[in-house]
Amino acid sequence: MKTNSGLRNVLILLPLWLGVLTVAALAADQCLECHSSWEEGLDAPSVQFQQDIHSKAGLSCASCHGGDPTLDDMDAVRKSKGYKGVPGAKEVNQFCASCHSNPAYMVKFNPSLPTDQLDKYKTSVHGKRLFEQGDTKVATCISCHTAHSIQPAAEPTSAVYPINIPKTCANCHADADYMSGYGITTDQHEKYIRSVHGRALLDKKDISAPACNDCHGNHGATPPGVTSLSAVCGLCHTLIADNFAKSPHKEAFDAMGYPECETCHSNHLIEKPKMHWVGVSDSSLCVQCHAPDDGTGGYVAAARIYETLVNINSIYNAALARIDTADMKGMLVTDERFALNEVKQAIIQTGTAVHTFDPEAVSKVAEPGITSAQNIAIQGEKKIEEYYFRRKGLGIATLLITILVIAIYLRIKSIEK
Ligand code: HEC
Ligand code: HEC
Ligand code: HEC
Ligand code: HEC
Ligand code: HEC
Ligand code: HEC
Ligand code: HEC
Ligand code: HEC
Ligand code: HEC
Repeated sequence: MKTNSGLRNVLILLPLWLGVLTVAALAADQCLECHSSWEEGLDAPSVQFQQDIHSKAGLSCASCHGGDPTLDDMDAVRKSKGYKGVPGAKEVNQFCASCHSNPAYMVKFNPSLPTDQLDKYKTSVHGKRLFEQGDTKVATCISCHTAHSIQPAAEPTSAVYPINIPKTCANCHADADYMSGYGITTDQHEKYIRSVHGRALLDKKDISAPACNDCHGNHGATPPGVTSLSAVCGLCHTLIADNFAKSPHKEAFDAMGYPECETCHSNHLIEKPKMHWVGVSDSSLCVQCHAPDDGTGGYVAAARIYETLVNINSIYNAALARIDTADMKGMLVTDERFALNEVKQAIIQTGTAVHTFDPEAVSKVAEPGITSAQNIAIQGEKKIEEYYFRRKGLGIATLLITILVIAIYLRIKSIEK
């Protein structure tokens, strides 16, 4: 009995003992202990490190910087075995990669984490310039991830979370002084934030829209599966890329070295497409390369595709106006509105088909939408007529009832008499 309760006491106190042991273990990390006691500002690495993924994974200052964490004197730390100090810009990539390129080590923490960052980095412009030319102004692991407040990429507070990426890159790429001497512009960020993609990502918080890294790659020269930046748009706009690949422009653009999509859409300031980009007006893209007498069918095709786009859009607008009018008059138009949404889809599909640059193909996609919009317009017209018919009917009915009431009244009067 007695021994049993003694054991129970030990068991009850076990969590407490573990707590004491943990505190003792923490206290044994003299690096953190001493560095945390520094005056405000200088203690930044230790303060920031509390939230760092490495701290959460159970790593410590010494995991990266080396040295013996049981020593309580920095001079002794410096002389202790394995102290690595602070890496310079040329060493920092290998410093991080000492773990991150070691699959046997990383698998113990997170088996799904890739271990190819350094290998890929070496293929990027950043990595090539650093390793081949010793250029230390390029981005290294810590320019994008920070040194002591590193977060997993999926954390909204991470410097590489999609919404924060444009700023992280702009730290250097929008700094004209820093980038002077390279002969590249520093307007990518300023243009990007005004583009369809930048507005979708930054204003609407739509993280399916590309940030800088979705086109330029996280670590490598291009994102996985893309051999050339020229083909990067096709990662997301797959149907359009398929159409383009089968179009006469594919071969012609390849031969002339024009990039597939940027030739018409640009790269950073991509705008919402406009109908008049097609066709033969002065504001059309097609006439920048095609003329009536250039010996290709391009000019004629441009005019015909434009006609189809105008057609489907104007019939859609006409149908919409009729449905709105009927709606305002209180008629039930739920089915018609639903059908109109499908026409809207057809318009988008027609925009996709434009990238075949084949008037027949564009027509074929637009045709069902045009027919459907015509029917909806007719339905709308009928609803409006029905409204007037009902109103007329109601008028006549009211008149008849009034006459009847008067007649009954007169009749009652005459009976009373
Ligand atoms: C008793 C206090 C103390 C302890 C313990 C201590 N440090 Fe320091 N550490 C300092 C001081 C003070 C400096 C700054 C002055 C200097 O560079 O000598 C410093 C500087 C550093 C630097 C920057 C060195 C540089 O070259 O700029 C690093 C990195 C560092 N410590 C890491 C560690 C690590 C890792 C441990 C544990 C293994 C540790 N420290 C333990 C006091 C301490
Ligand atoms: C994930 C690896 C990693 C860990 C863990 C880490 N550091 Fe660092 N530390 C670095 C890198 C990389 C630099 C170089 C930063 C730079 O060049 O801007 C650095 C720089 C420093 C410096 C030099 C001054 C500065 O702020 O740049 C000090 C001091 C320092 N670390 C202390 C610490 C302390 C204390 C801890 C633990 C609380 C710690 N570090 C944990 C990677 C790490
Ligand atoms: C030019 C900026 C940049 C540089 C330089 C960079 N990274 Fe990254 N890193 C990113 C971005 C962006 C992501 C992914 C964000 C996402 O998945 O949405 C990322 C993701 C990661 C991840 C998560 C796993 C993965 O591969 O997606 C690790 C680990 C990582 N980086 C380590 C490193 C190391 C180590 C280095 C240095 C060899 C490095 N990074 C250099 C921008 C950078
Ligand atoms: C001592 C080994 C070690 C060193 C050195 C190291 N890391 Fe890590 N890193 C890890 C471990 C372990 C994790 C945690 C993996 C987990 O639990 O998800 C991690 C996680 C990360 C993540 C989060 C990955 C994600 O998206 O989940 C990033 C980013 C990262 N490290 C970047 C760096 C950078 C940048 C450096 C250099 C300053 C560096 N690491 C140095 C071991 C290390
Ligand atoms: C620490 C500063 C720094 C950061 C942060 C940085 N870069 Fe760079 N980047 C440079 C420098 C310097 C060059 C070299 C310029 C050159 O070769 O033209 C460069 C080159 C490039 C190039 C090649 C330009 C060319 O000449 O064709 C691209 C693309 C690029 N960076 C994209 C990015 C992206 C995307 C990010 C963010 C994920 C980023 N960079 C973050 C400094 C930085
Ligand atoms: C929708 C894809 C896309 C996005 C998003 C994007 N870029 Fe680009 N970027 C490109 C393409 C395509 C090129 C042209 C590459 C070529 O012609 O070789 C380019 C070129 C560059 C260059 C080389 C210099 C220049 O201007 O031609 C830099 C630097 C650059 N981008 C940085 C950035 C930064 C920083 C961001 C984020 C603010 C960003 N890019 C967002 C696709 C993109
Ligand atoms: C990571 C996926 C992704 C990549 C890569 C990408 N886009 Fe987009 N793009 C989107 C998304 C998502 C939208 C919708 C944004 C919105 O809500 O308006 C969009 C919108 C557009 C639009 C406007 C469409 C419309 O009807 O308003 C155009 C044009 C466009 N992208 C062209 C490009 C070009 C050109 C490239 C390559 C230089 C490219 N995109 C690369 C995802 C991507
Ligand atoms: C950057 C220049 C450029 C732009 C812009 C351009 N094209 Fe072309 N297009 C070409 C070239 C080059 C050819 C190949 C001509 C040849 O086969 O000799 C071509 C071929 C064509 C063809 C095939 C002609 C045939 O006879 O086989 C069609 C159709 C066409 N373009 C339509 C268009 C339309 C529509 C637009 C506007 C949306 C447009 N193009 C914009 C350069 C351009
Ligand atoms: C020859 C010029 C040209 C080229 C090359 C081109 N586009 Fe377009 N793109 C247009 C025109 C014109 C429109 C507007 C069509 C409209 O009004 O519906 C458009 C519309 C779009 C739209 C909106 C489509 C919709 O459904 O409403 C997207 C997204 C797009 N393009 C992406 C791309 C991508 C991705 C590539 C490369 C594979 C590309 N474009 C190549 C001229 C071009």
